[in-house]
Amino acid sequence: MDLDNKVSLVTGAGQGIGEGIAKNLASKGSKVIVVDLNQQSSENVAEEINAKFPNSAFSFQADLTNSDEIESMLEFGIVKFNKIDCICNNAASSKGIGPVENYSLEDVQATLDLTFTSLWKCLQAEIRFLKQQAISASVVNISSNSAIKGYAFNSIYAASKAAVNNLTQSIAKEIARNNIRVNAVSPGTINTPGVREYFKAEPKAKEMLEKSSLLRRIGEPEEVGELVSFLLSDRSSFITGQIISVDGGASIN
Ligand SMILES: NC(=O)c1ccc[n+]([C@@H]2O[C@H](COP(=O)([O-])OP(=O)(O)OC[C@H]3O[C@@H](n4cnc5c(N)ncnc54)[C@H](O)[C@@H]3O)[C@@H](O)[C@H]2O)c1
Repeated sequence: MDLDNKVSLVTGAGQGIGEGIAKNLASKGSKVIVVDLNQQSSENVAEEINAKFPNSAFSFQADLTNSDEIESMLEFGIVKFNKIDCICNNAASSKGIGPVENYSLEDVQATLDLTFTSLWKCLQAEIRFLKQQAISASVVNISSNSAIKGYAFNSIYAASKAAVNNLTQSIAKEIARNNIRVNAVSPGTINTPGVREYFKAEPKAKEMLEKSSLLRRIGEPEEVGELVSFLLSDRSSFITGQIISVDGGASIN
């Protein structure tokens, strides 16, 4: 399989898109470290993976806004497997929503911390770690189509994701000579717990978002996982510094 003998780490893998990515990676033969702030949910996902692919998944609890916990997460990979080949920085969260004039500075700072700064902290520690490891590696950052198109009433989240895209390109340039590839995956609307809650509260939004995709539906977490697994595998060996949408064509609609 594509990812036989690979060790992958996925952040924010306790639910939603990260869960779909972790499951897809395991289905392609990878060992997977399922990292999440929520210990119970990361354990549940690891258990579900192991029920299908025995001894494939290990859970690890970490708050990725904390640099010490990011270091511990990477050390866990070394202790368990002696290496990490593939990393998906998926965890993100935002605070505040609404017209720009209503945002407090606290909301802006929290959204930047949760969506951009924590990913930057992860990436910085991971690049140091991967350089020392001195084997070829692949990193995928999860962005959002909002970074490409803007996002009315969620402007700070969208701007944070635009920063993730730009960071991805800069780091890809810095690290290519070390045989480390860095790409970003940009999902459209995906069937996750948060999106399901939103549709319950705003039923009209469901129809509108389905129509915004050329394929007239929202995506499934494993469909994002399929692209991430490809980008983390050696099959994508000539792809780096790219921002690739998985969105049923919504970004060109
Ligand atoms: N759901 C969508 O439609 C959609 C669309 C575009 C982009 N995205 C992006 O995809 C990624 C996953 O989104 P989702 O909807 O699956 O999110 P989600 O909220 O369902 O899951 C995120 C997971 O990350 C964990 N997490 C959050 N902060 C963390 C931290 N500091 N440390 C460790 N774990 C943390 C949470 O506990 C949770 O399990 C995010 O980067 C999001 O911005 C989502």
